[in-house]
Amino acid sequence: MRQPVVVANWKMNFGRPDQALDFVRRIRHPLNEIKDVDCVLCPPFTVLMAVAETIARTSIRLGAQTMHWEEKGAHTGEIAPTMLAGHCQFVIVGHSERRATGSRTETDAATNRKVHAALAHDMTPIICVGESLAQREREETHAFVSGQVTSAFEGLSEEGASRCVVAYEPIWAIGTSRAATPADANRVVALSIRGAVAERFGEAVAQAVRVQYGGSVSVDNIDGFMAMPEIDGALVGGASLKPDFVELVKRTARATGTRAASARRRSP
Ligand code: 13P
Repeated sequence: MRQPVVVANWKMNFGRPDQALDFVRRIRHPLNEIKDVDCVLCPPFTVLMAVAETIARTSIRLGAQTMHWEEKGAHTGEIAPTMLAGHCQFVIVGHSERRATGSRTETDAATNRKVHAALAHDMTPIICVGESLAQREREETHAFVSGQVTSAFEGLSEEGASRCVVAYEPIWAIGTSRAATPADANRVVALSIRGAVAERFGEAVAQAVRVQYGGSVSVDNIDGFMAMPEIDGALVGGASLKPDFVELVKRTARATGTRAASARRRSP
């Protein structure tokens, strides 16, 4: 059974220590009580270390919103994997908001380098993939998403590949209150994401990789996504800035319990 993972991507919010720490102090105890789900907070860099201290000795994990692949050097404003290792267990790579801003550090090839760098420094990359509305309307979703996955996983070992998390985030669903339907997301995850991993690394690795859905996830729709067999949690933007993020993680845990019970029934 894959352990679900819920990631709070704060984006460019809660960047002041008083804002971030007030919020984390409100949610850390109830989050710490929740079992069977990996819960990851990805704050802005300005508060990363302060959040790290505030969640120390809880089960809550820390993630970065991006990083460079080089260990050091003349890269103004960038953050190296060596600066995050030991503090962060996760790092988001290839987010569509970074791919789209023309940032030259977030191409498919750069995303692949970031995946390698994260794994080499014992961090789990959360690899974001997803099609635009125009691509969806042209029925290019499968080709595009499977291409992004193949490229992000290029050159990994089977062991490295199975440690990755992939987030399926259709661009048209991000911040729009217009989430994909659970069934649609489940289909893309099965065919285009696990399918692409299976083609290169085999079915066992494809089944080991955890795949989240992201894009307008909220406490009101998380149950639908978690009812889907291929979806292992969520990458959450706006709804991760509100206290009822705790309820969203609780619901994920409840769905995990239901999954475990039905898996036990299937294999006596
Ligand atoms: P929203 O949950 O605000 O749609 O953002 C999704 C996202 O981009 C998370 O990385």
